[in-house]
Amino acid sequence: METTTKKVVAEARGILADYDRLRQAGLIPEHGDFFPSVHYPPITMYPRITEDQLFAGYSLPADDLLSVYAHIPFCIRPCGFCHYPGKYNASSEEKDLYLDMIARETDLYMARLGVSRIRARCVLIGGGTPTDLTPEQLRGFLDAFTRRVDLSSCTQFSYDVDPSSLLGEDGARRLEIMRSYGVDRLTIGAQSLDDAVLKKMNREHDAAQVVAAIAASKKAGFKLNIEFIFGHPGQTQENWADVVEAAAGLGVEEIQFYRLKIAPYGDKTGPVLGHFTHRPEQFPSVPDTLVMKKTAMLILDANGYHENLTRVFSKERKDFSHYAADQCCNLFDQIGLGLTAFSSLRDRFGLNTQDFKEYYSLIKAGRLPLNRGLVRDREEQARWAIILPLKNRNVSKAIFQKRAGMSLDGSFREKIGLLQEYGLLTESAAALTLTPLGRFFADDVCHQFHHPNYIPFPKAAYAAGDLNPYEHNRL
Ligand SMILES: C[S@@+](CC[C@H](N)C(=O)[O-])C[C@H]1O[C@@H](n2cnc3c(N)ncnc32)[C@H](O)[C@@H]1O
Ligand code: SF4
Repeated sequence: METTTKKVVAEARGILADYDRLRQAGLIPEHGDFFPSVHYPPITMYPRITEDQLFAGYSLPADDLLSVYAHIPFCIRPCGFCHYPGKYNASSEEKDLYLDMIARETDLYMARLGVSRIRARCVLIGGGTPTDLTPEQLRGFLDAFTRRVDLSSCTQFSYDVDPSSLLGEDGARRLEIMRSYGVDRLTIGAQSLDDAVLKKMNREHDAAQVVAAIAASKKAGFKLNIEFIFGHPGQTQENWADVVEAAAGLGVEEIQFYRLKIAPYGDKTGPVLGHFTHRPEQFPSVPDTLVMKKTAMLILDANGYHENLTRVFSKERKDFSHYAADQCCNLFDQIGLGLTAFSSLRDRFGLNTQDFKEYYSLIKAGRLPLNRGLVRDREEQARWAIILPLKNRNVSKAIFQKRAGMSLDGSFREKIGLLQEYGLLTESAAALTLTPLGRFFADDVCHQFHHPNYIPFPKAAYAAGDLNPYEHNRL
C-alpha cells in the first residue's frame, strides 16, 4: 500500500472503537449487519390495503404539487449484488406493453386525484435501468409522460442510468433525447472503477466505459451523481481507496456510496445472499467494510466533497437530489408509477405490486396496481416525520410540527436525551441533527425511533445497553 493510503486507512480504523462502544450500548446489532432506513415502516412490513382505503379522505396539497417517480424495471443482465425485481433482456414487445401500461396507470392516478395533468414538484425516473429501451421507446415514454405531467414548476428532472446505455450511437441519442425533454441530472451506477471488481459484480461495463459515459453525459449538459458499492467481494482497503481517489477526480457534482446489502430489504432476494451463504470468506468483514466507508469519507473530504445528504457527497450544497430531499426531508407528497413504485401521500403510503402479471391485469381492469400500504395513526405519523429527515439531513422542528401535528419539543424526549449523551445527536431551537458519528451510523440511530413492531432485528440481536432500540422509545 502506498504511504498516503496506509495513513488514511490507519486513521479510518479509528471508527472501530466507536463501533465496539455502540454495539455494547445496544445501538448496533451484535452481528454488525445493517438495515437501511429508507421508509418508515420498512417496505416489507406493510399490510394489504385496497385503493379505496388508501385514498379515503385524501386531498392534494394546497399547491397541487407532487413529486413524481416512474419505474422502468428492465436491465440488460442481472448484477450479482442486486435484489431489485426486474426483467433481463426483455423483448421489445414486452417493453412496449409496459410503457403503454405505465401511461395508463398515470391516467388512472389523474382520475383518482381529479386532475387533468399532474403538476410535478420534481421528477425521478428510475429502475431497473430506465434507459434500457431503444431511443425510440425512450422518446415515446418521455412524450407520453410529459403529456400527462406538467413540468412548469418542476425544480429537477433526474434519471437513474447504468453507464452502458449511454455509450455508442444509441447512447448519444438517448442523452440527446433526455436533454430535449428537460432531464437535467443523471445518477450513473458506476459501482466500481476496478475492472476485476466490476467483473465479479457481473456488470455490463468496465471502468473505461464508466469514464466514457461520464464524459459523454457532461458534454451533453447533465449534472451528475455517480454511485458506488463498498463491502463487495474482490474489494480490499487498497483497491477501494484507489477507486474513491479516482472518483473524486472525475469532476462530477455528487458521489454516492452504498454499503453492500447481503440480505435483501425488499421482497426479492438477489444472488448475493446465496454467494455469501456458500463463500462468506470472500466478503470483507463488517469491521473492514466500516473502515472502507470511513476511508471513502476521508478521501472525499480531502478532495472537497462533503456529505450534504446522508451518504451523498458534493462539493456544493446546491447539488443534491431534489426527489430525495422533497420526499425524505421536506416530507412532501409524491406518487410512484410502475412496478414496485410507491406513493407517499401526507399520512399514508401505498406500494405497487412487484409482479408483472398482476401489474398488467390490475391496470387493464382500470385499477391502480397498489397492493400494500398503510394510513398511519398519530403515533406512526410522528415516528415517520422524525425518521426520514433524521436519516437524510436533519429534522426541522417546523416541518415536524406541520407534518406530525405536534411539537418535537414535547416528543421522544427520553430517546433524544440518550442519543445526545452518546454523542449521536445535537438539538437546537430549530432542528435535531445527527453529529458526524451519528451520521456514520445513521440507519441504526433511526431505528431508535421505530415502534417495537417495526424494528428490523429482534431484541436479542442487540446488547442490553441504554440504546437497545426496544427500550426508552415512547413517543
Ligand atoms: C436500483 S439500482 C439502479 C441502478 C442502475 N440500474 C445501475 O445499474 O446503474 C440503484 C443503486 O442501488 C445500489 N444497489 C443495488 N443493489 C445493492 C445492494 N445489494 N447493496 C447495496 N447497494 C445496492 C447500486 O449502487 C445501484 O446503483
Ligand atoms: S444494479 Fe442496476 S443494472 Fe444491475 S440488476 Fe440492479 S437495477 Fe439492473
